[in-house]
Amino acid sequence: MKELVFATNNKHKLQEVSEMLDGIVLIKSLNDIGLAGDIPETADTLDGNALQKAQWVYERTGLDCFADDTGLEVEALDGRPGVYSARYAGEHCSFDDNINKMLSEMQGKTNRRACFRTVICLIENGEPRYFEGRVDGQILTERYGKEGFGYDPIFMPDRFAVSFAEMPLEVKNHISHRGKAVAKLVEYLKK
Ligand code: IMP
Repeated sequence: MKELVFATNNKHKLQEVSEMLDGIVLIKSLNDIGLAGDIPETADTLDGNALQKAQWVYERTGLDCFADDTGLEVEALDGRPGVYSARYAGEHCSFDDNINKMLSEMQGKTNRRACFRTVICLIENGEPRYFEGRVDGQILTERYGKEGFGYDPIFMPDRFAVSFAEMPLEVKNHISHRGKAVAKLVEYLKK
């Protein structure tokens, strides 16, 4: 089976994506290949960050690999926090800090439309290729659910009456930004 290194230190993402690629590709984590360190993420676009993260692994190992970058784009905030979603509430902030800041910035806003966008950059034989996924929905006014990570407790995808954090992982994977980007990656890898 083809092997691909997933350039992430986020164990939630590793679990989500490994489940989606089960039986298609053997996913190796950075831990599996003994690569430690902080992956840089200093570009100002999702494509740029995904490329930067994948390149960081490729340059150190020469192995085929991929990385993803995700942003939460909120209409009432003119698309913020977008590419800065991880550091929305400050440099070393927690998921909880980010949610608190979002709930406070969104207080009283009637337009609660938002979307998650993911870009995956695959580096295969040194060549980068991009796959994108997106899910539209709304920012809730309080937290719901315990599953998932990041902004999941306050994001409700369209056509559902629950937050991402109230869904089983299989359901989230089926409709999510990352799920759709991974589905495109799978389609490509199967060819
Ligand atoms: P990253 O740069 O791809 O790690 O994503 C940036 C930030 O977006 C993360 O730190 C999370 O706060 C958030 N994020 C990414 N994916 C998800 C998701 O599936 N659900 C909720 N939040 C997410």
